[in-house]
Amino acid sequence: NYILKRAEKMGFCFGVKEAVELAETIKSDQKVYMLGMLVHNEQVIEQLKSKGLIVVTEEEVLEGRDEIREGDSVIIRAHGTIKKIYEILNQKNVRMYDVACIFVKRSREELMNHEKDGYKIIFVGDEFHPEVRGIISFGYDVKVVKDFDELKKLEFKESEKYYILAQTTLNKNLYKEMTKYIENRYENCKVGNTICGATYERQKAVEKLSAEVDVMLIIGGKHSSNTKKLYNISKEINEKSYLIQTYKDLDFKWFEKGNKIGITAGASTPDEIVEKIESILLGGRCNG
Ligand code: F3S
Repeated sequence: NYILKRAEKMGFCFGVKEAVELAETIKSDQKVYMLGMLVHNEQVIEQLKSKGLIVVTEEEVLEGRDEIREGDSVIIRAHGTIKKIYEILNQKNVRMYDVACIFVKRSREELMNHEKDGYKIIFVGDEFHPEVRGIISFGYDVKVVKDFDELKKLEFKESEKYYILAQTTLNKNLYKEMTKYIENRYENCKVGNTICGATYERQKAVEKLSAEVDVMLIIGGKHSSNTKKLYNISKEINEKSYLIQTYKDLDFKWFEKGNKIGITAGASTPDEIVEKIESILLGGRCNG
């Protein structure tokens, strides 16, 4: 009834894959905690909880309301966490499994090194996102701007030098435009390349596919920032773009007979969720 086509790059990135695989294999006689949502996908979290893993929030740890004891295991998610929490966990003598993605670790290091070298840091991203909160906590005086408008309002001093970096999931084209804007006005600007390759590949692939199909489905968790960005890119190109978490959100009114349906998924969306949606679409009915 429908023709399905997957984006060339989609779904679990290596950072998320590593985090989930580790969480599934930790063996301990003591409690195993995940700090925050290990990945931004509720189905994955529920599955891990059913295996006995416990979610503890950053706030609980910061405010001392957690029950983490010496010898317990704590997994630091792919987004990393804030400096203070690393310090608290070290003091508690826990077994820390830090699966912060290499792109996140690299951003952190670049930020610290440039601050040490006297640069003023400008970070493009969402200051409330866990990745951003974590990275900027390693700096002293980081200015976060969420979009182009905010960036244009910044005052740059000729006497200062600036280092610009971005949330790993930022739209690469937008970042290019923003950094060009600054570079054209101020000489003392250095641009960091901190957008992750997996994000960029997925954005490119959705750009291509959404132009080829009648309807585009973007599958991912509602907290997943990279999924939202895939959706935004797709929506600009193809009006009939829909963001869904699972097959339960499918609405057959979106499709017409013989439609070509494009499918992509965020970096924290497991393939089983995508496969389930595909099988329902191929079966032509929602049996959930
Ligand atoms: Fe890392 Fe990029 Fe995935 S930052 S966790 S590889 S989306």
